[in-house]
Amino acid sequence: MKVAVTGGAGYIGAFTVRALLEAGHEVRVLDDLSTGHREALAGLPLRFEQLDLCRDPLEPALDGVQAVVHFAGKALVPESVREPALYYRVNAVGSLRLLEAMHRVGARAIVFSSTCATYGVPDAVPIAEDHPQRPVTAYGSSKLSVEHMLRDVAHAWGFGAVALRYFNAAGAAADGSLGEDHDPETHLIPRILEAARTGTAVQIFGTDLPTRDGTCVRDYIHVDDLARAHRLALERAGDEGLGRFEAFNLGTGRGSTVREVIAAAREATGREIVAQPAPPRPGDPPALVADARRARERLGFEPEHDLDAIVRSAWAWHRSHPAGYASDNGAVGARAKAVGECERGG
Ligand code: UFG
Repeated sequence: MKVAVTGGAGYIGAFTVRALLEAGHEVRVLDDLSTGHREALAGLPLRFEQLDLCRDPLEPALDGVQAVVHFAGKALVPESVREPALYYRVNAVGSLRLLEAMHRVGARAIVFSSTCATYGVPDAVPIAEDHPQRPVTAYGSSKLSVEHMLRDVAHAWGFGAVALRYFNAAGAAADGSLGEDHDPETHLIPRILEAARTGTAVQIFGTDLPTRDGTCVRDYIHVDDLARAHRLALERAGDEGLGRFEAFNLGTGRGSTVREVIAAAREATGREIVAQPAPPRPGDPPALVADARRARERLGFEPEHDLDAIVRSAWAWHRSHPAGYASDNGAVGARAKAVGECERGG
C-alpha cells in the first residue's frame, strides 16, 4: 500500500515507518519536526514532507495515498494539564483537517495513535476496550475526541478506522539505530537511565498510592512490538475493516510499579540508582494495565519483549546516545536540532 505516516519522525513513528518499509509498503512521512528527528529516518527509501497538519494544505502531500498512520500530535500528560488549548488544537483540529483531506483524495484507511489515557482513572485493572472512557486530562480528552471523529467518518465515508490505545511505550532498537529522544524528557525509563548514567537522583511521583508498593503501576510495551501492531492494524483497516471503527489496547497485560522499573534498571545497568520520593503528578492515575486480549484475538498481536528486555535495550541506546540523535553528530550534551530547523520539504 501507499501509506502516509504523520509524525513519522517521532519516537513510535520512526519504528513504525521502518516496519512498514520492511513489509513492502511505500511510505511517505508528514512531520513538522517540532518534536521528531529527521535523523531517525536517515537513509530510508521514503518521501519526506515537512508540514503542519493545522495550517498547511494537506492534499498535495496525500496525493495517491491509500492509507494513513496518524501519530502526529502532542502526548505529554502533565503538559496537557497546563496547556489544554494546545492539546485540542494540535490533536483535535489537526486530526480533523487530516480526515477531511483524506476524504478529498480518496484515502480511506487510517490507524490512529490513541492512548489508555482516554480511560481516565479506571474502575479496575486490567482495562478492556469496552471500559467507559472518562479522561481526566486534556491529553486524554483530545485523543478521545479524535476517536469519536473516526467512528463517525468510518460510518459516513466508509473509512476503515483503527484506534490503537497505547499503554506505556518504551525501549530502543536492538541494532542501536533508533531510540527515545524527547526534549524535555519526562518519561520514566529514560529519566531513570539518565540518573544511572550521571549519578543524579530520579524522583518517584507518588509513594502512597493504592498499589502494591505505593507507586504508580504502568504497562510498559516495547516500541518494536508497537510498530508491528501498527502494521497489522493497517492491513486490517484497509481490508476487512473498511466501513468500521475498531479500538485496540496495546499493552502486555502486565503492570510494573515505578519501584519495580527502578529495580529492573539497577539490574540492567549494574548501577545503584538513587530514588527520591516526590508528590504525585497531577493527572496520573495510580494504575493503568491493559487487557490485551482483543489485539491478540483480532490482530494476531502478541508482544515479544518483557520489562527487562525493554530496559536493557533502552540502556544500550541511552549510553551510546546521551544527547539523543544529536550524539551521532558528536554533539554530546547539546540537543542540536539543526537538521529539523533547516530542512523543509523533499
Ligand atoms: N514517573 C516518576 N518519575 C519520573 C517520571 C515518571 O515517578 O521522573 C512516574 C509517573 O508518575 C507515572 C510513571 O512513572 O506514574 C510513568 O510516567 P511516564 O511519564 O513515563 O508516562 P505516563 O504514564 O505519564 O505517560 C505515557 C505517555 C502517554 C500515555 C501514557 C499512558 O506519555 O502518552 O503513558 O500511561 F498516554
